[in-house]
Amino acid sequence: MDLAGKKIILGLTGGVACYKAAELTRLLSKAGASVQVVMTEAATHFISAVTMQALSSKTVYTDQWDPRIANNMPHIDLSRDADAIVIAPCSADFLFKIAHGACDDLLSTLCVARPIQLPLLVAPAMNVEMWQNPATQRNAAQAKADGVTLFGPDAGEQACGETGMGRMLEPEQLLEEIVAAFQPKLLSGKHVLLTAGPTFEPIDPVRGITNLSSGKMGFAIARAAREAGAQVTLVAGPTPLSTPYGVQRIDVQTAQQMHDAVMAHVDKQDIFIAVAAVADWRVANASEQKLKKNTQGDTPQLHLTQNPDILAAVASLPNRPYCVGFAAESENLTQYGEEKRLKKRVPLLVGNIGHQTFGKEDNELMLFDDNGHTILPHANKRQLARTLIAELARRI
Ligand code: C5P
Repeated sequence: MDLAGKKIILGLTGGVACYKAAELTRLLSKAGASVQVVMTEAATHFISAVTMQALSSKTVYTDQWDPRIANNMPHIDLSRDADAIVIAPCSADFLFKIAHGACDDLLSTLCVARPIQLPLLVAPAMNVEMWQNPATQRNAAQAKADGVTLFGPDAGEQACGETGMGRMLEPEQLLEEIVAAFQPKLLSGKHVLLTAGPTFEPIDPVRGITNLSSGKMGFAIARAAREAGAQVTLVAGPTPLSTPYGVQRIDVQTAQQMHDAVMAHVDKQDIFIAVAAVADWRVANASEQKLKKNTQGDTPQLHLTQNPDILAAVASLPNRPYCVGFAAESENLTQYGEEKRLKKRVPLLVGNIGHQTFGKEDNELMLFDDNGHTILPHANKRQLARTLIAELARRI
């Protein structure tokens, strides 16, 4: 679980988006976090403390003078063993309070009284004009300058009927941001390009040659790179996987399209990770019309021609990024992995231990570089992707 053992204070302030905080509480709990809800008085007009208490299974605090707290210091006690304070939704008024260090209710006092290294993560939610108001923009800039992290806001339709910037991020997006906030920013400012998934080589308009790659490992690495602070572009073959939050995705079908998309984006990349299971061949005589069976039982003759090797093409560029290749071998990985690394002329090659990884949630990897090989032990692909990003960051 992405947030196992994390203690999060979830602060709600006055805004319609309070309804999204209910779902966020569930998602945080499902991710393994314990959630302590604190609400401003205004927030209680939008969602009841009872609802938030039922969802978080913890007493909800709304008042600095709550007689249930013996020492009357909830603003100190609550934050001392927390791992982060999340304000979602954060109203324009509360953003002002954060920017100015106001302490006129429990939640604002709690923010000011937090140990300064305790992350304060804020999801603004307000009407478009309120967000664009120069005063709000000043407050947002001041909060950022003080080390507060802002998630969003997003643009779109608003509860008031107007459209524009100011929508709070969706609960799923906030969860991704909160998980990412706990990851070390090992690739901060780096540009990472990846390929992932299978390719599909048409035989005719309804048939084609593909493989069993699910794209899970590549998508997990894209997510982990983004969590580590990189700007990530993901060139994906056909897969139903949803795009990792914050990642730019380019969908392609064939190896040639994947090659062209990679070449169009490879400039200014610091790292290229080729995870895709690219078809080695395509059908040279693919038919524009659907092939028909005939009564004589003749079978169509498919002529195959070789696809471009995308990884080799990137690795031979004069200004090449740091290149990482993948290998799925059915046997002799230790030998073939190193041979493939040298053949492709990449500094790092990642071998799937066992070729039965396609579609699975778990994996085990062997890394080959100039110093030999090391094993990343069996783990969930998401976790493994983070370890791989850490290994990569160490090498570049
Ligand atoms: O040559 P082989 O397919 O075994 O090499 C696998 C590695 O090369 C993977 O990183 C894969 O993404 C990449 N590759 C590629 N273009 C191809 C074939 C493989 O980028 N046409």
